[in-house]
Amino acid sequence: KETLRQALDDYEVIFFPDQKLDPNQQKEATRIFGPLLPSYTFFDHLDDDPEVEIVINDKNNPPTGTARWHADLTWSKEPPGGTSLYARAIPQDGKGNTIWASMSAAYEGLSDKMKTYLEGLEAIHSWDLLLAGRQQFLERGGDKFLEHKATNPPIPHPVIRTHPRTGKKILNVNPTFTHNIVGLPRLEGDGILQFLFTLPARPENQVRHKWHEGTLAVWDNTATQHSAVDDFFPEYRELTRVTFGGHGAPR
Ligand code: SIN
Repeated sequence: KETLRQALDDYEVIFFPDQKLDPNQQKEATRIFGPLLPSYTFFDHLDDDPEVEIVINDKNNPPTGTARWHADLTWSKEPPGGTSLYARAIPQDGKGNTIWASMSAAYEGLSDKMKTYLEGLEAIHSWDLLLAGRQQFLERGGDKFLEHKATNPPIPHPVIRTHPRTGKKILNVNPTFTHNIVGLPRLEGDGILQFLFTLPARPENQVRHKWHEGTLAVWDNTATQHSAVDDFFPEYRELTRVTFGGHGAPR
């Protein structure tokens, strides 16, 4: 177990091909990396189990909410430490990849002057950018979703955080949930954020994963951002997600 936990610290996303996992086995595997977190957000639950979310993309569900750079739930006080994603059905032609980007690498690529400028700044994270015009998220999730949203109002988090396990510095803003930098003139903050938002899209910060059924991916949600690749609509794609905690509030 320690070897696997260490591998996730070192590589930030790791892959286990050719697994045959039912949801309970996926949960057991995910517990190696941290305590499981129930999730009431964007996805439906498999068999009403709050710890297992199901990602289904098909002709009625294009991956519009996930095919954009984000780390999960960064609007919460203690965002998840990471997630496992298990491929149950993948488009025949090998499309529908997922890309992860290292935010420790993104930080390392900044100039010393920019690192100094960003140190100590905080930015606001909220659901609002993603939810704008997507009332169906709110309607679909029912009361639990609304309750969860109400208990997670917009929140400031450091622009640069230190990973609680590895001690690495991490660029902690993402274009899906981060709005503005506190205390900067609006135009200046927006300009800085627009620049920082380009960094996950840089190939040198990325790994692109082509799914096969039975592969389990586990990512560190503090150290990475991810995006689905929206090139398979309306084909069927199904994965299950299990989230773990343990990284605390960003500092
Ligand atoms: C996610 O954002 O958790 C899902 C990513 C994917 O569907 O590839």
